[in-house]
Amino acid sequence: MFRTKIAGIGHYVPEKVVTNHELEKLMDTSDAWIQERTGIRERRYAAKFKETSTTMGARAAEVAIERAGIHKEEVDFIIFATLSPDYYFPGCGVLLQRELEITATEIPALDIRNQCSGFVYGLSVADQFIKTGMYKNILLVGAEIHSMGLDFSTEGRNVTVIFGDGAGAVVLQPTEEPGKGVLTTKLHSDGTYAEKLAMINPGAHSGYHFNKRGEHIDWGYPTDVEYGQNFVTQHMLDHGQIYPNMDGQFVFKMAVQKFPEVIMEALQEVGLTPADINMFVPHQANLRISEFVAKKMGLGPHQVWNNIQRYGNTTAASIPIALSEAVEAGAVKSGDLICLAAFGSGFTWGSALIRW
Ligand code: COA
Repeated sequence: MFRTKIAGIGHYVPEKVVTNHELEKLMDTSDAWIQERTGIRERRYAAKFKETSTTMGARAAEVAIERAGIHKEEVDFIIFATLSPDYYFPGCGVLLQRELEITATEIPALDIRNQCSGFVYGLSVADQFIKTGMYKNILLVGAEIHSMGLDFSTEGRNVTVIFGDGAGAVVLQPTEEPGKGVLTTKLHSDGTYAEKLAMINPGAHSGYHFNKRGEHIDWGYPTDVEYGQNFVTQHMLDHGQIYPNMDGQFVFKMAVQKFPEVIMEALQEVGLTPADINMFVPHQANLRISEFVAKKMGLGPHQVWNNIQRYGNTTAASIPIALSEAVEAGAVKSGDLICLAAFGSGFTWGSALIRW
């Protein structure tokens, strides 16, 4: 029976660094507030009108492919996780295929919409295809361009200061090396709180949504037409209803509960304990969340990889960027037990254990 191994990993972050002080000029916030609540000092923003989730994903993919020692034409399946796609449809998977100039092989491309846990979900999907022998070189990409769709007024500050742009990618292959590879993945979701961290518009929803006070939200749907003008209304644009919204405290409470739960579930399944983890690479949601979870698991600072200070929360890209950095820094050695875990909008969450 095969296991899945990460044969190559790479990341790409845009050049433009945006510090907390620069955000201070745009909205009522402060470097001190952002650092104290989230640990973030700066984030990267994509080059305007030049870079997208697809192009950044492609740059990360090229590194991963090269490090895997394969030709790009050998990739036999693409999985792309993002919440900030270039188009509403088609998804970034096929756009990446085109960007990498590997359309001739007509390989399948799958898009994952699981926000912050998109990479872990993608890894789990890929793992199933590798284990059955269906594919041998799966390219899994997580990429985000948040900077294009955030509210840079004070109204949007609780969300905007957190997010950054970037991409990470892995090439996944079968391995028969004893004990090595993905040991298990665990996935969960609970749609009860779908709107607690969401970008509702543009969307084909029925109009049902309430604000924090429980009042029905007016999306400004025209009453004189039955079809066709409800996807994006002028009212939505005028009232800032096209931006992501988040109940930060609620998300925080759920995250610190679900992270340890899903990690323990994975460890228990394979008969290991937190003490066996050599490197924990959490989704970079908030440094306080990662520190809380690490403490709860009894992990010291050298056993956790955090880079949210420099990149903010890059959603589906955050785990592959962090893991890629950890590998580049030599912090991950052959035989190490790597634990990945994520929680985010949906809510969706998951974990993965990999023997490197
Ligand atoms: N700068 C300055 N003040 C801000 C601010 C900002 N960027 N964002 C919010 N505030 C203000 C609020 O308006 C509020 O002011 P008030 O007390 O006058 O009403 C105050 O700070 C506290 O807001 P609150 O939302 O309660 O702060 P918090 O301590 O919960 O921290 C988060 C906010 C977003 C940092 C925190 O809730 C968080 O990290 N949650 C998890 C988010 C997350 O991980 N999301 C991604 C999941 S994948």
